[in-house]
Amino acid sequence: MKILAIESSCDETAAAVVEDGRDILSNVVSTQIEKHKIFGGVVPEIASRLHTENISAVVEKALGDANCTLADVDGIAVTYAPGLIGALLVGVNYAKGLALASGKPLIPVHHLRSHIAANYITHKDLKPPFMCLVVSGGNTLLCKVNDYTDFEVIGRTRDDAAGEAMDKAARTLGLPYPGGVNLDKISKNGDNTKYKFPKPRVDGCPLDFSFSGLKTSVINLVHNANQKGDELNPADVGASFINGVVNCLADNTIKAMDMHNEKTLVLAGGVSANSVLRGRMEKLAKEKGWDLYLPDLSLCGDNGAMVGAQGYFEFLKGTVAQMDLNGKATADIEKDYKN
Ligand code: KG4
Repeated sequence: MKILAIESSCDETAAAVVEDGRDILSNVVSTQIEKHKIFGGVVPEIASRLHTENISAVVEKALGDANCTLADVDGIAVTYAPGLIGALLVGVNYAKGLALASGKPLIPVHHLRSHIAANYITHKDLKPPFMCLVVSGGNTLLCKVNDYTDFEVIGRTRDDAAGEAMDKAARTLGLPYPGGVNLDKISKNGDNTKYKFPKPRVDGCPLDFSFSGLKTSVINLVHNANQKGDELNPADVGASFINGVVNCLADNTIKAMDMHNEKTLVLAGGVSANSVLRGRMEKLAKEKGWDLYLPDLSLCGDNGAMVGAQGYFEFLKGTVAQMDLNGKATADIEKDYKN
Protein backbone atom coordinates (compact mmCIF):
# COMPACT_ATOMS: atom_id res chain seq x y z
CA MET A 1 0.00 0.00 0.00
CA LYS A 2 1.44 3.38 -1.04
CA ILE A 3 0.85 6.48 1.07
CA LEU A 4 1.58 10.02 -0.07
CA ALA A 5 2.51 11.98 3.06
CA ILE A 6 2.73 15.70 3.74
CA GLU A 7 4.46 17.46 6.65
CA SER A 8 4.45 21.22 7.33
CA SER A 9 4.30 21.54 11.13
CA CYS A 10 7.31 23.86 11.53
CA ASP A 11 10.01 25.00 9.12
CA GLU A 12 10.35 22.10 6.70
CA THR A 13 7.96 21.64 3.79
CA ALA A 14 8.11 17.91 3.22
CA ALA A 15 6.40 15.18 1.23
CA ALA A 16 7.12 11.50 0.66
CA VAL A 17 5.72 8.32 -0.78
CA VAL A 18 6.06 5.35 1.56
CA GLU A 19 5.18 1.72 0.88
CA ASP A 20 3.58 -0.44 3.59
CA GLY A 21 4.80 1.88 6.35
CA ARG A 22 8.41 0.71 6.02
CA ASP A 23 9.91 1.54 2.62
CA ILE A 24 10.68 5.00 1.31
CA LEU A 25 9.90 5.42 -2.39
CA SER A 26 10.64 9.15 -2.22
CA ASN A 27 11.35 11.69 0.51
CA VAL A 28 11.58 15.38 -0.34
CA VAL A 29 12.39 17.99 2.32
CA SER A 30 12.53 21.68 1.51
CA THR A 31 14.05 23.41 4.50
CA GLN A 32 13.44 27.05 5.38
CA ILE A 33 16.49 27.33 7.67
CA GLU A 34 18.24 30.03 5.63
CA LYS A 35 15.13 32.24 5.69
CA HIS A 36 14.71 32.03 9.48
CA LYS A 37 18.41 32.19 10.35
CA ILE A 38 18.60 35.99 10.36
CA PHE A 39 15.87 36.09 13.04
CA GLY A 40 17.62 33.49 15.23
CA GLY A 41 14.60 31.18 15.19
CA VAL A 42 11.46 30.23 13.28
CA VAL A 43 9.10 33.14 12.49
CA PRO A 44 5.66 31.49 12.30
CA GLU A 45 4.11 33.73 9.66
CA ILE A 46 7.13 33.47 7.39
CA ALA A 47 7.01 29.68 7.83
CA SER A 48 3.35 29.56 6.71
CA ARG A 49 4.01 31.73 3.68
CA LEU A 50 7.01 29.67 2.59
CA HIS A 51 4.99 26.44 2.97
CA THR A 52 2.32 27.99 0.75
CA GLU A 53 4.91 28.86 -1.89
CA ASN A 54 6.69 25.50 -1.85
CA ILE A 55 4.16 22.82 -1.12
CA SER A 56 2.99 22.14 -4.69
CA ALA A 57 6.53 21.69 -6.00
CA VAL A 58 7.52 19.50 -3.04
CA VAL A 59 4.51 17.18 -3.43
CA GLU A 60 4.98 16.97 -7.22
CA LYS A 61 8.64 16.06 -6.75
CA ALA A 62 7.76 13.42 -4.15
CA LEU A 63 5.30 11.79 -6.57
CA GLY A 64 7.75 12.12 -9.48
CA ASP A 65 10.70 10.66 -7.53
CA ALA A 66 8.51 7.70 -6.56
CA ASN A 67 7.54 7.26 -10.19
CA CYS A 68 3.86 7.64 -9.30
CA THR A 69 0.90 9.84 -9.95
CA LEU A 70 -1.84 10.61 -7.47
CA ALA A 71 -3.83 7.77 -9.03
CA ASP A 72 -1.20 5.25 -7.87
CA VAL A 73 -1.35 6.08 -4.15
CA ASP A 74 -3.80 4.50 -1.72
CA GLY A 75 -4.09 7.34 0.76
CA ILE A 76 -2.95 10.84 1.64
CA ALA A 77 -1.47 11.27 5.10
CA VAL A 78 -0.89 14.66 6.65
CA THR A 79 0.45 16.05 9.93
CA TYR A 80 -2.52 17.76 11.61
CA ALA A 81 -0.92 18.46 15.07
CA PRO A 82 0.97 19.60 17.08
CA GLY A 83 2.96 22.47 15.63
CA LEU A 84 2.71 26.04 14.40
CA ILE A 85 -0.94 26.42 13.53
CA GLY A 86 -0.51 28.56 10.40
CA ALA A 87 2.13 26.17 9.11
CA LEU A 88 0.03 23.07 9.83
CA LEU A 89 -3.00 24.53 8.05
CA VAL A 90 -1.07 24.81 4.78
CA GLY A 91 -0.33 21.07 4.73
CA VAL A 92 -3.77 20.09 6.01
CA ASN A 93 -5.58 22.15 3.38
CA TYR A 94 -3.31 20.97 0.59
CA ALA A 95 -3.88 17.34 1.60
CA LYS A 96 -7.63 17.94 1.77
CA GLY A 97 -7.58 19.36 -1.75
CA LEU A 98 -5.69 16.31 -3.04
CA ALA A 99 -8.01 13.90 -1.21
CA LEU A 100 -11.12 15.65 -2.52
CA ALA A 101 -9.84 15.77 -6.10
CA SER A 102 -8.63 12.14 -6.11
CA GLY A 103 -11.23 10.49 -3.89
CA LYS A 104 -8.39 8.93 -1.84
CA PRO A 105 -8.70 8.60 1.94
CA LEU A 106 -7.32 11.46 4.06
CA ILE A 107 -5.25 10.18 7.00
CA PRO A 108 -4.51 12.56 9.91
CA VAL A 109 -1.16 11.94 11.63
CA HIS A 110 0.06 13.21 15.01
CA HIS A 111 3.54 14.72 14.62
CA LEU A 112 5.13 12.91 17.57
CA ARG A 113 3.63 9.59 16.54
CA SER A 114 5.33 10.10 13.19
CA HIS A 115 8.70 10.86 14.81
CA ILE A 116 8.41 7.46 16.53
CA ALA A 117 7.46 5.83 13.22
CA ALA A 118 10.74 7.02 11.65
CA ASN A 119 12.12 3.98 13.48
CA TYR A 120 9.86 1.55 11.55
CA ILE A 121 11.62 2.71 8.37
CA THR A 122 15.10 2.51 9.90
CA HIS A 123 14.53 -0.86 11.60
CA LYS A 124 12.34 -3.17 9.52
CA ASP A 125 12.09 -5.65 12.42
CA LEU A 126 10.90 -3.13 15.03
CA LYS A 127 7.40 -3.77 16.34
CA PRO A 128 5.56 -2.47 19.43
CA PRO A 129 5.45 -2.87 22.37
CA PHE A 130 8.47 -0.78 23.42
CA MET A 131 9.46 2.19 25.54
CA CYS A 132 10.10 5.42 23.67
CA LEU A 133 11.97 8.56 24.64
CA VAL A 134 10.63 11.33 22.41
CA VAL A 135 12.93 14.35 22.35
CA SER A 136 12.01 17.09 19.92
CA GLY A 137 12.06 20.87 19.72
CA GLY A 138 8.70 21.34 21.40
CA ASN A 139 8.21 18.12 23.37
CA THR A 140 10.01 15.73 25.68
CA LEU A 141 8.22 12.63 26.84
CA LEU A 142 8.62 9.06 27.85
CA CYS A 143 5.88 6.85 26.52
CA LYS A 144 4.99 3.24 26.27
CA VAL A 145 4.14 2.35 22.69
CA ASN A 146 1.74 -0.53 23.29
CA ASP A 147 0.80 -0.79 19.64
CA TYR A 148 1.32 1.25 16.45
CA THR A 149 -1.57 3.53 17.40
CA ASP A 150 -1.72 2.98 21.17
CA PHE A 151 0.44 5.29 23.31
CA GLU A 152 0.68 5.73 27.07
CA VAL A 153 2.62 8.74 28.34
CA ILE A 154 4.44 7.94 31.60
CA GLY A 155 6.68 11.01 31.84
CA ARG A 156 6.69 14.46 30.28
CA THR A 157 8.36 17.81 30.62
CA ARG A 158 6.72 20.23 33.01
CA ASP A 159 8.13 23.26 31.17
CA ASP A 160 10.63 23.44 28.31
CA ALA A 161 11.50 20.63 25.97
CA ALA A 162 15.09 19.34 25.75
CA GLY A 163 15.35 20.77 22.21
CA GLU A 164 14.14 24.19 23.31
CA ALA A 165 16.79 24.21 26.07
CA MET A 166 19.52 23.19 23.57
CA ASP A 167 18.40 25.92 21.16
CA LYS A 168 18.41 28.60 23.92
CA ALA A 169 21.85 27.54 25.16
CA ALA A 170 23.18 27.74 21.60
CA ARG A 171 21.64 31.16 21.06
CA THR A 172 23.11 32.46 24.31
CA LEU A 173 26.53 31.30 23.13
CA GLY A 174 25.98 33.23 19.89
CA LEU A 175 25.59 30.16 17.68
CA PRO A 176 23.40 30.43 14.59
CA TYR A 177 19.97 28.81 14.26
CA PRO A 178 19.32 25.83 14.25
CA GLY A 179 20.95 25.90 17.67
CA GLY A 180 20.88 22.28 18.82
CA VAL A 181 22.81 20.98 15.81
CA ASN A 182 25.46 23.71 16.07
CA LEU A 183 25.80 23.24 19.84
CA ASP A 184 26.40 19.54 19.24
CA LYS A 185 29.09 20.36 16.64
CA ILE A 186 31.06 22.93 18.64
CA SER A 187 30.91 20.88 21.85
CA LYS A 188 32.62 17.79 20.43
CA ASN A 189 36.01 18.60 21.98
CA GLY A 190 34.76 20.50 25.03
CA ASP A 191 35.30 19.53 28.66
CA ASN A 192 31.91 18.27 29.85
CA THR A 193 32.92 18.45 33.52
CA LYS A 194 33.95 22.13 33.47
CA TYR A 195 30.56 23.51 34.58
CA LYS A 196 27.91 21.94 36.79
CA PHE A 197 24.26 22.37 35.86
CA PRO A 198 21.29 21.60 38.12
CA LYS A 199 19.61 18.23 37.90
CA PRO A 200 15.96 19.06 38.54
CA ARG A 201 13.50 16.59 39.97
CA VAL A 202 9.73 16.87 39.88
CA ASP A 203 8.30 16.10 43.32
CA GLY A 204 6.23 12.93 43.34
CA CYS A 205 6.65 12.36 39.58
CA PRO A 206 10.03 10.64 39.09
CA LEU A 207 9.57 10.24 35.34
CA ASP A 208 8.74 13.88 34.58
CA PHE A 209 11.34 16.31 33.26
CA SER A 210 12.05 19.99 33.81
CA PHE A 211 14.54 21.87 31.64
CA SER A 212 13.74 25.51 32.38
CA GLY A 213 16.16 25.65 35.36
CA LEU A 214 18.99 24.29 33.22
CA LYS A 215 18.16 26.82 30.53
CA THR A 216 18.20 29.73 32.99
CA SER A 217 21.40 28.45 34.51
CA VAL A 218 23.32 28.45 31.20
CA ILE A 219 21.95 31.91 30.31
CA ASN A 220 23.10 33.24 33.73
CA LEU A 221 26.52 31.63 33.38
CA VAL A 222 27.15 33.30 30.01
CA HIS A 223 25.67 36.69 30.99
CA ASN A 224 27.62 36.84 34.27
CA ALA A 225 30.85 36.02 32.47
CA ASN A 226 30.14 38.69 29.84
CA GLN A 227 29.43 41.28 32.53
CA LYS A 228 32.66 40.50 34.35
CA GLY A 229 34.61 40.42 31.10
CA ASP A 230 35.56 36.77 31.70
CA GLU A 231 36.20 34.59 28.69
CA LEU A 232 34.26 31.36 28.43
CA ASN A 233 35.19 28.53 26.16
CA PRO A 234 31.92 27.83 24.25
CA ALA A 235 32.99 24.21 23.67
CA ASP A 236 33.28 23.62 27.44
CA VAL A 237 29.97 25.37 28.20
CA GLY A 238 28.24 23.47 25.38
CA ALA A 239 29.70 20.09 26.37
CA SER A 240 28.81 20.61 30.06
CA PHE A 241 25.30 21.77 29.20
CA ILE A 242 24.63 18.88 26.82
CA ASN A 243 25.95 16.53 29.51
CA GLY A 244 23.47 18.07 31.98
CA VAL A 245 20.53 17.58 29.60
CA VAL A 246 21.59 14.05 28.69
CA ASN A 247 21.99 13.13 32.39
CA CYS A 248 18.33 14.12 32.99
CA LEU A 249 17.13 12.21 29.92
CA ALA A 250 19.19 9.12 30.80
CA ASP A 251 18.20 9.04 34.49
CA ASN A 252 14.49 9.14 33.81
CA THR A 253 14.81 6.62 31.00
CA ILE A 254 16.57 4.15 33.33
CA LYS A 255 13.81 4.63 35.91
CA ALA A 256 11.10 4.18 33.30
CA MET A 257 12.68 0.99 31.91
CA ASP A 258 13.04 -0.45 35.42
CA MET A 259 9.62 0.59 36.71
CA HIS A 260 7.86 -0.80 33.64
CA ASN A 261 10.07 -3.83 33.25
CA GLU A 262 10.94 -2.91 29.65
CA LYS A 263 13.86 -4.22 27.66
CA THR A 264 13.35 -2.40 24.35
CA LEU A 265 14.11 1.30 24.07
CA VAL A 266 13.46 3.52 21.04
CA LEU A 267 14.55 7.14 20.60
CA ALA A 268 12.65 9.63 18.47
CA GLY A 269 12.59 13.33 17.53
CA GLY A 270 15.11 15.96 16.42
CA VAL A 271 17.25 15.77 19.56
CA SER A 272 17.77 12.03 19.01
CA ALA A 273 20.34 13.19 16.42
CA ASN A 274 22.50 14.47 19.28
CA SER A 275 25.79 12.58 19.33
CA VAL A 276 26.19 12.60 23.13
CA LEU A 277 22.64 11.34 23.71
CA ARG A 278 23.09 8.55 21.15
CA GLY A 279 26.43 7.55 22.67
CA ARG A 280 25.06 7.55 26.22
CA MET A 281 22.05 5.45 25.27
CA GLU A 282 24.26 2.97 23.41
CA LYS A 283 26.46 2.61 26.48
CA LEU A 284 23.46 2.20 28.79
CA ALA A 285 21.85 -0.36 26.49
CA LYS A 286 25.03 -2.47 26.60
CA GLU A 287 25.26 -2.25 30.40
CA LYS A 288 21.58 -2.99 31.01
CA GLY A 289 21.01 -5.51 28.22
CA TRP A 290 18.39 -3.39 26.43
CA ASP A 291 17.60 -3.61 22.74
CA LEU A 292 18.15 -0.06 21.52
CA TYR A 293 16.72 1.43 18.34
CA LEU A 294 17.89 4.83 17.10
CA PRO A 295 16.36 6.54 14.07
CA ASP A 296 18.63 7.01 11.07
CA LEU A 297 20.18 10.49 11.27
CA SER A 298 18.44 11.45 8.03
CA LEU A 299 15.04 10.76 9.64
CA CYS A 300 15.53 12.47 13.04
CA GLY A 301 14.37 15.90 11.87
CA ASP A 302 10.98 16.64 10.35
CA ASN A 303 10.29 14.76 7.13
CA GLY A 304 7.43 13.31 5.12
CA ALA A 305 8.60 9.69 5.20
CA MET A 306 7.89 9.33 8.92
CA VAL A 307 4.37 10.71 8.31
CA GLY A 308 3.86 8.12 5.59
CA ALA A 309 5.04 5.36 7.93
CA GLN A 310 2.69 6.31 10.76
CA GLY A 311 -0.07 7.13 8.24
CA TYR A 312 0.02 3.52 7.03
CA PHE A 313 -0.56 2.15 10.55
CA GLU A 314 -3.26 4.75 11.27
CA PHE A 315 -5.02 3.73 8.06
CA LEU A 316 -4.84 0.02 8.95
CA LYS A 317 -6.51 0.94 12.24
CA GLY A 318 -9.30 2.73 10.34
CA THR A 319 -8.33 6.35 11.04
CA VAL A 320 -9.67 8.37 8.13
CA ALA A 321 -10.69 12.04 8.33
CA GLN A 322 -13.35 13.89 6.42
CA MET A 323 -13.25 17.31 4.80
CA ASP A 324 -13.75 19.05 8.15
CA LEU A 325 -10.24 18.03 9.34
CA ASN A 326 -8.58 20.95 11.11
CA GLY A 327 -5.02 21.63 12.25
CA LYS A 328 -4.25 21.82 15.98
CA ALA A 329 -1.37 23.62 17.67
CA THR A 330 -1.46 21.16 20.56
CA ALA A 331 -2.71 17.59 20.75
CA ASP A 332 -2.18 14.70 23.13
CA ILE A 333 -0.25 11.81 21.55
CA GLU A 334 -2.53 9.35 23.37
CA LYS A 335 -5.74 10.69 21.89
CA ASP A 336 -7.54 10.20 18.62
CA TYR A 337 -7.37 13.15 16.15
CA LYS A 338 -10.95 14.12 16.93
CA ASN A 339 -10.24 14.65 20.66
O1 KG4 B 1 11.79 16.94 16.17
P1 KG4 B 1 12.26 18.20 15.57
O2 KG4 B 1 12.90 18.15 14.21
O3 KG4 B 1 11.17 19.28 15.54
C1 KG4 B 1 10.04 19.19 16.30
O4 KG4 B 1 9.18 18.41 15.91
O5 KG4 B 1 10.01 19.86 17.36
O6 KG4 B 1 13.32 18.76 16.62
C2 KG4 B 1 13.98 19.95 16.44
C3 KG4 B 1 14.87 20.11 17.63
C4 KG4 B 1 15.50 21.48 17.70
O7 KG4 B 1 15.37 21.96 19.01
C5 KG4 B 1 16.94 21.20 17.35
O8 KG4 B 1 17.83 22.12 17.89
C6 KG4 B 1 17.12 19.84 17.94
O9 KG4 B 1 15.94 19.16 17.58
N1 KG4 B 1 18.29 19.13 17.38
C7 KG4 B 1 19.37 18.82 18.11
C8 KG4 B 1 20.27 18.20 17.23
N2 KG4 B 1 19.71 18.15 16.00
C9 KG4 B 1 18.48 18.74 16.12
N3 KG4 B 1 19.63 19.02 19.41
C10 KG4 B 1 20.81 18.59 19.85
N4 KG4 B 1 21.74 18.00 19.07
C11 KG4 B 1 21.51 17.77 17.76
N5 KG4 B 1 22.42 17.17 17.01
